Amino acid sequence: MESKQLSRAEALGFSGCRHACHVMLYSDTKSRLFGRTPMEHIVLMQMRFDGLLGFPGGLVNPSKETLEAGLIRELLEEIGTEIPVTAEDHVESCFAPGSSPSSPSSSSLIIHFYVKKIEEEQIREVEKAAASTAADHGLEVMGMVRVPLYTLLRGSGLPFFLSHSFIGNARSQLIRSLLRLGLVAPDRLHQALAHALEMHA
Ligand code: GTP
Ligand code: MN
Ligand code: MN
Ligand code: MN
Ligand code: MN
Ligand code: MN
Repeated sequence: MESKQLSRAEALGFSGCRHACHVMLYSDTKSRLFGRTPMEHIVLMQMRFDGLLGFPGGLVNPSKETLEAGLIRELLEEIGTEIPVTAEDHVESCFAPGSSPSSPSSSSLIIHFYVKKIEEEQIREVEKAAASTAADHGLEVMGMVRVPLYTLLRGSGLPFFLSHSFIGNARSQLIRSLLRLGLVAPDRLHQALAHALEMHA
């Protein structure tokens, strides 16, 4: 079950909870796979220390910093790059799976999600810094990964990618973003997701 979406302001009202912010960075691209399949977009995720896929970002302390200042700090640690994420880039907030909205406590976690479009050149700079100067490289973050958005034969591409394990509701955050931004056609996305779920069965 997905928990109910909260506005940024509503979510900040739960002051006794822990808060975390993550961001999906993406760009357009003209590159083609095998000189043929247009990649169309680059979407960045990361392989976390725990072996799960997620977005860059982390725990923030709203009593000491704004959500966005906390997110920018986490990005500096995890990808070694200052990305000027603002409240305008916020797309959704909700209680983390397993966190109860009915009895908010200091152990409940509210997850804030942001999406930011940058230039392809900046994506390359993020990847470079994430693999070299980022403090958390090889520690909290094992590496950045690009999400394959195309579907080739027999589940190659997005279906296999979606069949991996994700932290929290990161898979849903990815799917909703791809739909909302029109980065993958709805029918292709639903087919890829159905295929990914079959692989688990
Ligand atoms: P520390 O510095 O070790 O505290 O880690 P962090 O601050 O980088 O925190 P992390 O990024 O692990 O995020 C905190 C919590 O948010 C995690 O324990 C997960 O429950 C959740 N989380 C992490 N990444 C994602 C993500 O991409 N999407 C969602 N929905 N939740 C996430
Ligand atoms: Mn090759
Ligand atoms: Mn993190
Ligand atoms: Mn971190
Ligand atoms: Mn942290
Ligand atoms: Mn840390």
